[in-house]
Amino acid sequence: MIFETHAHYDDKRFEKDRDRLIASLPEQGVAKVINVGADFQGCQDSIALSEQYQYVYAAVGIHPENIEELPGSYEWIRENISHKKVVAVGEIGLDYYWEKDAQKQKEQRAGFIKQLQIAKEASLPVIIHSRDAAADTFEIIKNEAAGRITGVVHCYSYSKEYALEYVKMGYYIGIGGVVTFKNAKKLKETAAAVDLEHILLETDCPYMAPEPYRGKRNDSTLLKYVAEEIAKIKQISVQEVIEQTAHNADKLFLSERRK
Ligand code: NI
Repeated sequence: MIFETHAHYDDKRFEKDRDRLIASLPEQGVAKVINVGADFQGCQDSIALSEQYQYVYAAVGIHPENIEELPGSYEWIRENISHKKVVAVGEIGLDYYWEKDAQKQKEQRAGFIKQLQIAKEASLPVIIHSRDAAADTFEIIKNEAAGRITGVVHCYSYSKEYALEYVKMGYYIGIGGVVTFKNAKKLKETAAAVDLEHILLETDCPYMAPEPYRGKRNDSTLLKYVAEEIAKIKQISVQEVIEQTAHNADKLFLSERRK
């Protein structure tokens, strides 16, 4: 059974069929889901979904693009981190693709470090969003978090060399629909280079639908196409990909929580 480690079912694109879709996941081969907050409202919605469904867990954190929301939600996040269904701090990180302003990028770095601190205090893993900010993300993780907290680099988009460095620090590489795209040479190389023991399956739905659904609304049931592609790259069975990645996610998110 699939463990979906990164969904946004609070997104308005699921408004019409959210409950029917989430309720149908177990019968479609998806056993567990982490719904990831990206803004303050998303954090609250993620916890609400985790309370509604036994197999849905929540991550709370403020995405770099929404970092101006952090001062107003910081205390709430710190308090709610102890909720029994909250399994990670995320998604947090840096996004220099959408944010080119140097001062704003500096605010992203400060907000990222502050939220890593929350994860450290709570002994929770982190879900990292990083785009066009490879060096700064790596340096912050290395300085602030290596050896103390672990987590996943979600929607991984950097080189295989960086991926192997993250793995050395105990981090996981989150792989989703992009790996099925014909032009995703770099990510396919990463999927080949990183041991299956350090890979997690994730959609980032409603975004990033895999082939043959590229451009359409994504959901956790389409993770089978991601698993198929990884199996092809690694020349192993799809079942092995699904089982090992689910085991990885259990280890990172569900055993950490019970420490
Ligand atoms: Ni996301």
